[in-house]
Amino acid sequence: MKDFLFGADYYPEHWPRSRWETDAVMMRDMGLDVVRLAEFSWFKLEPEEGKFDFAWLDEALEVLGRAGIKAILGTPTAAPPAWIIASDPSIEPVDSQGRVHHFGGRHHDCQSNQTYRKHIARFVTAFADHFGKNEHVIGWQIDNELGNSHDDFCHCPSCQARFREWLKGKYGTAEALNRAWGTEFWSQGYQDFSQVTSPMITATGGNPSRDLDWRRFCADLVLEFHEFQAKIIRPRSPGRFITHNLMGFCDKFRYDELAKMLEFVSQDQYPGGHFRPNPSADRSAEMAAELDFVRGLKDQPFSVMEQQSSITGWEILGRAPKPGQLALWSLQTVAHGADAVIWFRWRSCAMGMEQYWHGLLPHSGIPGRNFEELSAFVRQLKPLLRDMQGAMPEKQAAILFSYDQEWAARIQPHHPDLSYTGHLMSYYRALHARNIPVDFTFPDRDWSAYKLLIAPLWFLADPGENEKFRNYVKAGGTLVLTCRSGIKHPSNLCITDLPLPAGLTDLAGIEVDEYDCLRDCENTVLWEGHAYPCLKWCDIMHTVSAEVRGTWGGEFYAGTPAITRNAYGSGAVWYVGTEMGDDLALAVIQALEKECGLSSAGTADKGVEITVRRKEKSSWLFVLNHTDESRSVDIPKGWHLLQGTEGPVLPPFGFRIYSKEK
Ligand code: GLA
Ligand code: ZN
Repeated sequence: MKDFLFGADYYPEHWPRSRWETDAVMMRDMGLDVVRLAEFSWFKLEPEEGKFDFAWLDEALEVLGRAGIKAILGTPTAAPPAWIIASDPSIEPVDSQGRVHHFGGRHHDCQSNQTYRKHIARFVTAFADHFGKNEHVIGWQIDNELGNSHDDFCHCPSCQARFREWLKGKYGTAEALNRAWGTEFWSQGYQDFSQVTSPMITATGGNPSRDLDWRRFCADLVLEFHEFQAKIIRPRSPGRFITHNLMGFCDKFRYDELAKMLEFVSQDQYPGGHFRPNPSADRSAEMAAELDFVRGLKDQPFSVMEQQSSITGWEILGRAPKPGQLALWSLQTVAHGADAVIWFRWRSCAMGMEQYWHGLLPHSGIPGRNFEELSAFVRQLKPLLRDMQGAMPEKQAAILFSYDQEWAARIQPHHPDLSYTGHLMSYYRALHARNIPVDFTFPDRDWSAYKLLIAPLWFLADPGENEKFRNYVKAGGTLVLTCRSGIKHPSNLCITDLPLPAGLTDLAGIEVDEYDCLRDCENTVLWEGHAYPCLKWCDIMHTVSAEVRGTWGGEFYAGTPAITRNAYGSGAVWYVGTEMGDDLALAVIQALEKECGLSSAGTADKGVEITVRRKEKSSWLFVLNHTDESRSVDIPKGWHLLQGTEGPVLPPFGFRIYSKEK
């Protein structure tokens, strides 16, 4: 499927023609196999309507091809040129405050606008006709980071009309919509779909049910926008893949649905982030979680389409990556399932907003420290990465991810700091600290391979999903439910006439009588004789059939259940009525580790990550020191060192790779 291992994002249009050969030869000498090209070059490819200039890109492909470098082409639809916008300014998106976002940056496009769709159809058809069968073109990326810069989505008249159509398709009648949204409240009833609007700025708070449907609609629109282009490309470019550069936990649309339409997914991985103030702080768990999440989208290895290659920054810059750190970050992606790494970007450019988002080569074009470090990394890793293609971590524990739950929690977080990804990270960090492999799975998948399934903040309870939970546990699985689960219908209306967690009560074996939002304070949980901090929320509950494992340490409900375990079928359901602090999460995960028979990849000091990838006959073990100090490691027996130096201590930002026959 993929015939590349290493690459760079390359912008030949930023450089004189006379430099291209030098770049191609340097790429070849570095060991790169592929470049991604053209995803922001519409104006250069179509300087006026219907007048295409593909010659420069033909030539770039030829120059690169001569050096053995293949290409992934991006459709440049995340930055329509000024002449398109001038011909119809209604293409520019409108935010929820009614403000137009104008030309001059990128993503200045509305994805439902029909004039824009016509321009896309014309351009992408010609582009794919011309390049689709080019021997150097191996695949495609449609648009760029779909969902990026769409914080507020588009509320233009075209999107409003599409929203109404979408609602009509979902509800059929205005009465059904009124029921689903609870429009008796504040006299929000509609006589007809024509009266419905998107959630633009209101005088007061809005309607959580409308907000949730709006998120669902916008997510569908992004997928449709992608498919619109994919349908043009596929027949014109046989045998080539389509992938997309995703942004980890970005929640603008359903990545799991997009993944079904792609040959493989790709991730954009910037551990230094956008001007992150302290990149030396250990964010290895957060980085690892995003990689595990992206791998989970297709439950197969992925590519990295943009991997940090130097200092990041736009107006403000981040820290300089320390010696060893770029190679370590690149290896972390491999350790979590990347089969290919493409660095962003080949060379720091002299123009535009991203002058200081540095590349493998600095502005001077003269190789420096980062280039040498990553060149050595390519030499070291290339044979290994070739062997490792397709290898995956073992299935043991999974976090169940649902965009509907994410959106519901975002619309009404209850506590100002409670967030879906923040909450799931409290579990992920503990599993990561124990070096237990974590998958992310999704509601429509088969969960049976997992001994432990964690379903964080399961706000919206769908009867079919409740049944799926039951079957999973009956068959022997261990399910963890958390506070704020089973509280709402999928419409985002509260569940009534039942104690909480409503349809999950028999599974959890508890009933939630009341709750306490921990604004500006913490509470504790008494767990195995110690008091551990817990945050943001406490469910006040009594047991029905569950055993009490932890109790609240403070407040008027001190001594009542906080964490419970209910034997159910051949499995068990844990209910955690709070967001656990890291120490408590670690203690609880260790109890679950024992109960479920989870196995750790190894033990090491804090800040050292250990992962394993396996395939038919071989396994590989990665040890990564994310700290700027030496760290001790204890490698399980039977592994042979492939890269790095043996010994009890790993140097700052050092790594080792081991292998063994299964
Ligand atoms: C994203 C985009 C790239 C570039 C980088 C750096 O990941 O996909 O085009 O803008 O960020 O800002
Ligand atoms: Zn719009």
